[in-house]
Amino acid sequence: MSMARVLVGVSGGIAAYKACELTRLLVRAGHEVTPILTPEAERFVAAQTFEALARREMPRELFPHLVEADLLVIAPLSANTLGKLAQGLADNVLTQTALAFDGPVLAAPAMNPRMWAHRATRGNAETLARRGVELIGPEEGDTAEGEVGVGRMSEPEEIFERAQSLLEKREQLDGLRVLVTAGGTREPLDAVRFLGNRSSGRMGAALAAEARRRGAEVTLVAANLSVPAPVGVNVVPASTADDVARETLARGDADVVLMAAAVADYRPAEPEQAKRPKDGNDWTVTLEPTTDVLREVGERRTNGQLLVGFAADTGERGLERAREKLAAKRADLIVFNDVSREDIGFDSADNEVVFVSGEGERRLEKASKEQIAAAILDEVAERLRGGG
Ligand code: CTP
Repeated sequence: MSMARVLVGVSGGIAAYKACELTRLLVRAGHEVTPILTPEAERFVAAQTFEALARREMPRELFPHLVEADLLVIAPLSANTLGKLAQGLADNVLTQTALAFDGPVLAAPAMNPRMWAHRATRGNAETLARRGVELIGPEEGDTAEGEVGVGRMSEPEEIFERAQSLLEKREQLDGLRVLVTAGGTREPLDAVRFLGNRSSGRMGAALAAEARRRGAEVTLVAANLSVPAPVGVNVVPASTADDVARETLARGDADVVLMAAAVADYRPAEPEQAKRPKDGNDWTVTLEPTTDVLREVGERRTNGQLLVGFAADTGERGLERAREKLAAKRADLIVFNDVSREDIGFDSADNEVVFVSGEGERRLEKASKEQIAAAILDEVAERLRGGG
């Protein structure tokens, strides 16, 4: 692995001294390490200790280059700093950096077991995890106060190993062109009205962000997103099924195509040019089929291209249809998403999906769309390596 720029954030707690060892391991692995201690952490360990180990000064303000780092490791993560991160507070250099940083974050909580067990803390930890922050530990063991319970920081070696594997992912899709479609199409009925769907584009945006994070050159064909497009990706607006078809097929030679957009299957055959005035009569609209983009990409695909489709459907029958789609659209993988449930899918933050491929099926636990996106790209990377 090539050298990486790693920020080591240290918050208050007795485990702060263990972050010295973590810093040493990262430096020894050849990384450029910048320590960032909170004022509380400095009560436990002197910044000079870290500066000596990292051979680098600790920044006393948020310098722009900090946010260009490849990884932010926060160890230990105290209950207090965890709470601040969950809320997006920025009252010291570490919390400011964390708020401005959009790369991968690894955090190792360490605190008194009662504090870790508290619902407030659990909620904060879950908030971070849902945002895609990777948490490691805490472990069960003796605490500084002589209590036994879960709250002890994971060992520096373990945190180091996890950091290394996150850094490896950074280069996982290096040099590959990844095309993602996201959002929901709008098919005009007249000059102001359209037929649309509830897709927010969040799943596709999460996929684009994650692919970018792993080094890919990402194009996002964006159909009316209601979430912001991630930074660093090439955004191509596409409102209708026709637009999505045109923009996607124009880039159909990408190495990986992830078709997360909810593309209309039908559109009004003759949309009215002006706004249709109300006249008390019925308004009959004839719908005609649109191009099935996924099928087209599947038919034209070249050797080595990896094609992933999504299937929003309901129940067991839907899962069966997903299997049929896999074959009919010549995809490598269909990500099935049961939209009969209110708490997942479409415009919600969560998904519970099943990977359907020629090799079988794998159900993932309910998770945030960011976490599902990471799992999908793990699967993509595995298949590109020939392990699928
Ligand atoms: N899709 C597409 N073009 C369309 C419709 C869908 O590319 N005109 C893609 C979606 O992006 C998704 C996949 O096809 O990746 C599955 O879409 P879905 O609507 O679930 O399946 P359909 O093929 O439309 O089948 P049906 O509606 O009959 O379930």
